[in-house]
Amino acid sequence: GDAHVITHALAKHTLSKLRSSDTDQVAFRNGLIELGRLCGFEIIDGMMDTEYVSITTPLAETTGEVVKGLDDVVIVNVLRAATPFVEGLVGAFPRARQGVISAGRDEQAGMDEGGEFPITIDYVKLPDIDEDDTVIIADPMLATGSTIVAVLEEVFEVGDPERLVVLSAVSAPPGLVRVGDAFPSADILTVSIDERLDEDGYIVPGVGDAGDRAFG
Ligand code: PRP
Repeated sequence: GDAHVITHALAKHTLSKLRSSDTDQVAFRNGLIELGRLCGFEIIDGMMDTEYVSITTPLAETTGEVVKGLDDVVIVNVLRAATPFVEGLVGAFPRARQGVISAGRDEQAGMDEGGEFPITIDYVKLPDIDEDDTVIIADPMLATGSTIVAVLEEVFEVGDPERLVVLSAVSAPPGLVRVGDAFPSADILTVSIDERLDEDGYIVPGVGDAGDRAFG
């Protein structure tokens, strides 16, 4: 349930590029890919265990460390802004199974008094989720948390994994609190906890609308 901030210098560097309105569509998408890859490495380094195995090099017998559980990873792409972010993550987890969920905030309805958005889910396709899986839900933005709560409900319909990681590039305090309260077993990872949400539910200072900036 704790929110953990990724402090890798290159992750902060890449997020700074994403924030700037001088960053065009191609650079924005490439930045999200790069950030996804870095976040994947941070998940491996900070959350996954290693074990020792025997190895035969061309010269000798030795032991070496390998990461456990790399074959038991499921990455969930929350359309659409997460697509380049997931592309990067898959670079770090080449053997991951992938799920896709189309979940969007109903911007017409707007944010309600409790700071939540109605969420429309149009498409859900998840692989089997087993009890020894690490499931990573990737979405560049965690604002009110409405989207992620709806996505997590879908994930738990399919299975109850050993580890659940909610990964965002930028997040805002209300969304972190909401997801942490609703799903205390989830590990929330983010590259930045930004200051606040504005009256339309956008993260400030944020990156703007990540879906629009990546796809036009
Ligand atoms: C954005 C973003 C998240 C969501 C975050 O998606 O990519 O999915 O809003 O907001 P929340 O935490 O308040 O739910 P959007 O609905 O704009 O869809 P898009 O990615 O297709 O543009």
